[in-house]
Amino acid sequence: MALPRRSRQNLRFFSLAMSIVTAPYEKLSNTQRKRWGIDERGFAPAILIAKLGLHHEYHGKGHGSDLIDAALNKCVETAQGAACLLIVVDALKEELVCFYTKEGFIRLNGLRFVLTMRAAQKRLASRTNSRQGE
Ligand SMILES: CC(C)(COP(=O)(O)OP(=O)(O)OC[C@H]1O[C@@H](n2cnc3c(N)ncnc32)[C@H](O)[C@@H]1OP(=O)(O)O)[C@@H](O)C(=O)NCCC(=O)NCCS
Repeated sequence: MALPRRSRQNLRFFSLAMSIVTAPYEKLSNTQRKRWGIDERGFAPAILIAKLGLHHEYHGKGHGSDLIDAALNKCVETAQGAACLLIVVDALKEELVCFYTKEGFIRLNGLRFVLTMRAAQKRLASRTNSRQGE
């Protein structure tokens, strides 16, 4: 069941902010450093997805995935033309770890998760293709 179209904006929300991710440079492969845009100090620019949520009546019904799609779409759009290869999100609590893992995010440290812009684009393209195939 999709969220009602007209009121969708009031039923789900997220905000974006520019951020910096710190990653353990030595532990990452060259490929990973390149993919994530990590410099030699272990820093990478990222778009932070913050304040993500659904109206409480819609929790636990699978709408979280669509909300992540909407947020990723905005991240990809925002990063176009900018050298920003990472998306980052800080889970509010440990119980949300399985949610972000299921959505394809990689746990970086603590409750911090990342996803590459490239992975986000792939996910969005495959979701569009599967919707077109329905
Ligand atoms: C987080 C949120 C967007 C997830 O959307 P959702 O539609 O409820 O999630 P789903 O139905 O797709 O659930 C995905 C999984 O995550 C788990 N999960 C989601 N939110 C959870 C929560 N608050 N506590 C514990 N588990 C949670 C579900 O149990 C589910 O696990 P399962 O597939 O093994 O059953 C929504 O629950 C929400 O708005 N929560 C309140 C705000 C919030 O916590 N935002 C996150 C900020 S980091």
